[in-house]
Amino acid sequence: MKNLLEKLKAFFSAKKVDSAEGSQNSQPKSTDTEGEKQPGRLKRLFLNIKAYAKRKPSTFIAIIVGIVFVLLLVTYEALHLTSTPEFCGMCHVETETGAGAEYHTWKKNIHAAADVGCIDCHGKPGFFGYMRAKMGGMYDLYSEIVHSKENKMAILTEGATNKEYAAKLVPNDWCLICHSDDANKEIRDNTFMSFFGVKMRKVDAVKNPEFRELNGLRDIFNDEMPNISFSHDNHVNTLGLSCMECHMGVAHGGEFQNKTKMEDCFACHDAEREKNPDMIAPANDDCSACHTTVVAMQEGTLLLEEGEEPTPPSIMADQGIYGAGNCSTCHIGAFDLPTAATCGPTCHSEGMDYGFMYDDIRAQFDAVKAPLDKLNMQLYEVLGKMTKEQRAKFNEFKNYYEILANDNSKGIHNDTIYVKAAEKAMAIGNELASSLGIPVAAPEEGQE
Ligand code: HEC
Ligand code: HEC
Ligand code: HEC
Ligand code: HEC
Ligand code: HEC
Ligand code: HEC
Ligand code: HEC
Repeated sequence: MKNLLEKLKAFFSAKKVDSAEGSQNSQPKSTDTEGEKQPGRLKRLFLNIKAYAKRKPSTFIAIIVGIVFVLLLVTYEALHLTSTPEFCGMCHVETETGAGAEYHTWKKNIHAAADVGCIDCHGKPGFFGYMRAKMGGMYDLYSEIVHSKENKMAILTEGATNKEYAAKLVPNDWCLICHSDDANKEIRDNTFMSFFGVKMRKVDAVKNPEFRELNGLRDIFNDEMPNISFSHDNHVNTLGLSCMECHMGVAHGGEFQNKTKMEDCFACHDAEREKNPDMIAPANDDCSACHTTVVAMQEGTLLLEEGEEPTPPSIMADQGIYGAGNCSTCHIGAFDLPTAATCGPTCHSEGMDYGFMYDDIRAQFDAVKAPLDKLNMQLYEVLGKMTKEQRAKFNEFKNYYEILANDNSKGIHNDTIYVKAAEKAMAIGNELASSLGIPVAAPEEGQE
């Protein structure tokens, strides 16, 4: 270090002497062919470098390559650093839900748990999409400094509430690259994805079906949906809907899994039916047309293994008038959940406190599910450490756990199946947990 300083000092003082000499002594040097004034500092530096390059060409090239490499590394690191969710979180700071709370809601979301970051969704797939997203980031920075907080919140509120605006913010393809095989191939074939595979973010390296299968995801155009009978192909490819028509808030809704909302389906179907009475969407009170998993649960056909007889249907669900398809006996309307007050007087004989029993049953099934909720989150936390085999086990666990998470009847639709799914999930989850060194889950108190 000291050496370097001295060298630098010598370098500059030599220059001063040089130029002082130059002005006193007007005699041309032998190298100055035209005999004009001495070259400037920069030019001299350049000449020095040139001379050095001639003397030691290979060292010179090595130095240049080194400098370029360091510059690239700095740029690469800077790009990376400004792409982390934590960086985005510096300005998107609110801690509830809605405008400004994007980091907070993302952090709670299944995408964060599966290591999908902000710019995996907020940027077109491919290298140039990434660079454009970075440019957009520069505008964010400018806006943060120059514009008012009200202006920022107004823009963010628009993004959080307006479906058309949101669909422009995150167009279908940006989701489909991960959630479909065909779209993934098409996008990859028509996009410059990366320089020599240099990884700037997750999405540019996503290749399906591998990515999808590793993460236990369905191909939305070709696989059945887990809970609701639904065709993405019809709605997205034929009708041309954006994902935001039904998945608004998928990452920022505030829940771990932000589900679709029945009122979105009804609102559009009602409006479409007005225009075209022959359209084929199920009537709003045809519950079983959409809720096929609840039906299978009530009929006892869910989770049947080869050669197994259907599990006895739920006593309540199979009381003739309560049979599958007759959801409205308990669910007076699509949006009315049964309560202790509606079950008691409408169905069960007077004089008995079924209200108490109802709450009791629900508490019991909550106790069955609670340790699995915890186990699920614990397993997500160590997702990065899992081997491919462990990931496959985790996906198997999720398939059973998903049944409990989707059927929010807390066992009332069919307690036998509910318990079967819970036991399977618990067995697989605990086996996986112990292979990962996580304490295994135990049923909570209150379970019978
Ligand atoms: C320096 C503060 C700051 C940082 C860091 C920041 N943002 Fe923003 N962001 C803003 C402001 C201010 C706005 C609103 C004005 C605008 O559109 O730029 C905004 C708006 C947005 C919008 C909505 C744009 C629109 O047109 O509606 C998205 C999406 C977004 N930011 C994502 C991100 C992501 C992803 C990151 C991290 C890579 C990030 N932001 C980092 C300040 C910031
Ligand atoms: C799974 C994809 C996905 C991820 C990951 C994601 N977002 Fe979003 N983001 C969306 C979608 C879709 C919207 C459109 C509105 C909505 O659904 O809430 C959106 C909207 C926004 C908006 C506009 C205002 C608002 O609140 O809706 C901002 C700002 C934003 N995201 C920032 C971020 C930041 C910062 C991160 C990471 C900490 C992030 N997003 C991670 C998909 C994602
Ligand atoms: C980089 C890839 C990637 C992108 C981009 C992406 N997702 Fe996801 N998505 C995932 C992964 C991984 C999961 C979590 C799977 C798991 O752990 O079960 C997921 C989960 C989901 C789920 C929940 C599935 C479930 O089991 O409940 C929905 C719905 C979803 N994504 C929709 C979207 C939408 C809509 C967009 C665009 C706004 C989007 N995703 C963008 C990879 C992605
Ligand atoms: C018209 C409504 C609608 C539109 C539009 C829509 N979806 Fe869905 N999506 C659904 C429904 C309904 C489900 C099933 C929910 C269930 O079974 O619980 C679903 C489920 C999903 C899942 C979960 C699959 C799984 O493995 O659990 C993903 C991922 C998904 N959609 C992605 C998308 C993407 C990406 C788009 C845009 C290209 C999109 N969806 C457009 C209604 C829609
Ligand atoms: C923005 C409009 C729109 C939304 C939102 C919408 N649908 Fe539809 N849906 C339609 C139209 C239009 C048809 C009729 C298609 C035809 O006649 O070919 C339809 C048909 C259907 C059908 C019967 C044909 C098929 O594709 O299997 C089902 C089932 C269905 N919708 C389920 C849903 C569910 C579940 C949701 C909510 C998660 C939903 N739809 C949301 C417009 C919509
Ligand atoms: C067009 C398809 C469709 C029809 C018809 C339908 N549902 Fe739904 N329902 C959905 C979707 C989609 C969801 C939300 C996604 C989920 O729960 O996975 C939902 C959610 C629900 C919920 C959860 C609470 C809520 O408000 O989101 C209940 C309860 C429910 N439906 C009951 C019914 C009953 C009872 C009927 C018949 C009277 C019915 N549904 C008819 C598609 C439908
Ligand atoms: C024997 C009475 C009964 C019948 C019949 C019944 N349900 Fe339920 N359902 C319930 C109860 C009780 C709950 C839980 C309500 C609660 O926890 O507050 C529930 C919850 C649900 C939920 C979850 C609500 C949520 O908060 O997410 C859906 C969806 C649902 N039922 C759909 C259906 C459908 C579709 C049918 C017909 C195929 C049906 N149910 C038939 C009693 C019934």
